[in-house]
Amino acid sequence: MKTLIVYATTHGCTRKYAEILASLLPGAILSELKTDPSPGLDAYDTVVVGGSIHAGMIQKSVRVFCEKNRDVLRQKKLGLFVSCMEEGEKARQQLEKAFPADLISGAAAVAHFGGAFDFDKMNFLERTIVRKVAKVSASVSKFDEAAVRDFARRLA
Ligand SMILES: Cc1cc2nc3c(=O)[nH]c(=O)nc-3n(C[C@H](O)[C@H](O)[C@H](O)COP(=O)(O)O)c2cc1C
Repeated sequence: MKTLIVYATTHGCTRKYAEILASLLPGAILSELKTDPSPGLDAYDTVVVGGSIHAGMIQKSVRVFCEKNRDVLRQKKLGLFVSCMEEGEKARQQLEKAFPADLISGAAAVAHFGGAFDFDKMNFLERTIVRKVAKVSASVSKFDEAAVRDFARRLA
């Protein structure tokens, strides 16, 4: 089973999830959309797509990738995930908005993983938004390694 993990990250949290996932899925290849917006999918029977949520939306590069490859992705064993700071119903709604509904319903594993607010990596505008909207003024992490292990088990 050849696996490709395609992801976008703003401050590195999603990359950390993608890397852990790659370590759990033997032979998995990592591909960051920022450096390769159109990775070839032919060689893989399993594809995982991940990104993070900012102002309620996943990265545009993830949306474009999913739209462009929608038909091919429907033929693959598919995993979809986001990292975000919201939890429960709000996180679920963000996840449903992040990926096309048909990809979600056909996927073998779908999850939202806890994110991180990393003030050292935010620019001035991001810091201002997070302080105002999330009412958080210092770095905090909800990184959840158990959740990504469970995701890998469901996909395997
Ligand atoms: C400016 C900003 C806006 C954010 N907006 C949201 C949001 O609307 N919903 C949410 O659940 N998390 C939000 N987050 C939290 C990110 O989703 C979280 O930090 C995630 O782990 C980032 O992953 P990344 O480092 O891979 O980009 C926001 C973070 C920042 C910095």
